[in-house]
Amino acid sequence: MDTETLQRLLHQIELKDGSTAAHTWRVVHYTRMMAERLSVPQDLLQRVTHAAALHDLGKLDVPDSILKKPGPLTPSEFETIKLHPIRGHEWLLSLGEQDPIVLNFVRHHHERVDGTGYPDGLRGGDIPLGARYFAVVDSFDAMTSKRPYRPSAGRELAPQAIEQLQAGIGSRYCRDCVEAFIDLYRSGQLDWVMEHYNDGACIGAFLGVASLPTGKDGQPRDAA
Ligand SMILES: [Fe+2]
Repeated sequence: MDTETLQRLLHQIELKDGSTAAHTWRVVHYTRMMAERLSVPQDLLQRVTHAAALHDLGKLDVPDSILKKPGPLTPSEFETIKLHPIRGHEWLLSLGEQDPIVLNFVRHHHERVDGTGYPDGLRGGDIPLGARYFAVVDSFDAMTSKRPYRPSAGRELAPQAIEQLQAGIGSRYCRDCVEAFIDLYRSGQLDWVMEHYNDGACIGAFLGVASLPTGKDGQPRDAA
């Protein structure tokens, strides 16, 4: 996928739902830091970063009445939400995306290692590695970001979120992925994302982030 198409899609995600856009922005950085920590080759790093940026592309097809619903979802509404990995995969195919790393990442980012995830109920090592790592990143962000019912966010919620990740080893998450993420958290590299971009202020700011180089401290090289 060319950069212009990627940025157009990211802009559509921003327009669809601001909170989804902010979430996307944060998880792109977490994913990139995780991949860099694992010393993945530059080419793969770029592909995984693009996949992370597009992971919730399928939410473009979720009605606003469900996506922005302030209260709890009904079972039927949740079933609609659960279609978004398939919709995202279909979007990418229709746009001519052929990279299996990107396609599989988007389709399988809600699988669980015990096979109870969606959309395909894959288990353990059958789940693509990028998607297994991303499940940890995605959950951590959900547990440390602002919600209508939870005004606090960021570092103060992180210890509890880390406990939840550890509790989910073997059911939701693979052990290696959780332990790698915890190492990253303990190094302090995640702090700037949690602290400075955990609100609506970053909307409009993450275009181009998929190719943003980061320094050793995890912060953008061109950041003040
Ligand atoms: Fe998702």
